Amino acid sequence: MSATPISDRNRDLAGKVALITGGASGLGLAMTLRFAARGARVVVLDRDAAAADALAEIENAGFIACDVCDPDAVDAAFDRAEAGIGPLDIVVANAGISQNSPTLELSFADWRRVMAVNLDGVFLTAQAAGRRMAPRRRGVILLMASMYGVVAAPERIGYCVSKSGVAMMAKALALEWARHGLRVNALAPGYVRTPFLDDLIARGRLDADALTARMPIGRFIDTGEVADLAAFMASDEASAITGQVAGVDGGWSANGYL
Ligand SMILES: NC(=O)c1ccc[n+]([C@@H]2O[C@H](COP(=O)([O-])OP(=O)(O)OC[C@H]3O[C@@H](n4cnc5c(N)ncnc54)[C@H](O)[C@@H]3O)[C@@H](O)[C@H]2O)c1
Repeated sequence: MSATPISDRNRDLAGKVALITGGASGLGLAMTLRFAARGARVVVLDRDAAAADALAEIENAGFIACDVCDPDAVDAAFDRAEAGIGPLDIVVANAGISQNSPTLELSFADWRRVMAVNLDGVFLTAQAAGRRMAPRRRGVILLMASMYGVVAAPERIGYCVSKSGVAMMAKALALEWARHGLRVNALAPGYVRTPFLDDLIARGRLDADALTARMPIGRFIDTGEVADLAAFMASDEASAITGQVAGVDGGWSANGYL
């Protein structure tokens, strides 16, 4: 496969069909905007039907209400998506929730809740994608991990464990599905100011000034910077990249100091 000419790079997803879970907010919304701007048709799966309004203005973006923890709902949503916009080329399993509380106080129900969305939901999305893409021998699957799937932090046991599971899921599926012509990679962002993070800061669970002080680049990651990485990983320019956990964390995970 020849490299994309530089002049075509801003349309490198032209003609592609993409599905993004959790695409009604934050990183998912940024990826939806970026993928659509680069020429893809995008369908968003999100449990927050009210947030579908955020997508109404985006040309080439549709919405299907779906809880990614429900296997039947995920399957039905994939069928509806393919009936609506055609065979999927790109699937991003992005929907996820935070968990930020001392482990000694964490209830089993809250542990299960984070596993259900962050692990079960990503597994069900990846499996639904693989089942449709493998027979066609074509497709790219991106799983949203986190730098906290690579390095640890206290008081986030469910989050860290679920995200490290997502990172491993990308490697295991990449190995298993390479022979079917599929690429599977994980993305590992650092701290990005999205509603997800704003909520933790507003509740006093995180200190924004302390976080930026510890960041080697001295600022939060922008949602567009994660979307740019996702668009590249989804494009044919990344045709030899599979089984990777791609970091976009401003140097946080490399920082062994302060
Ligand atoms: N914001 C960060 O700093 C950061 C850093 C690393 C990784 N991440 C990961 O990125 C992903 C998106 O995070 P964000 O910051 O954009 O969060 P967000 O809260 O702004 O958006 C998450 C979206 O997922 C949807 N969602 C949640 N549970 C769902 C379910 N069961 N079924 C369907 N949709 C569901 C929500 O409705 C929402 O639209 C998450 O997986 C998160 O762990 C975020």
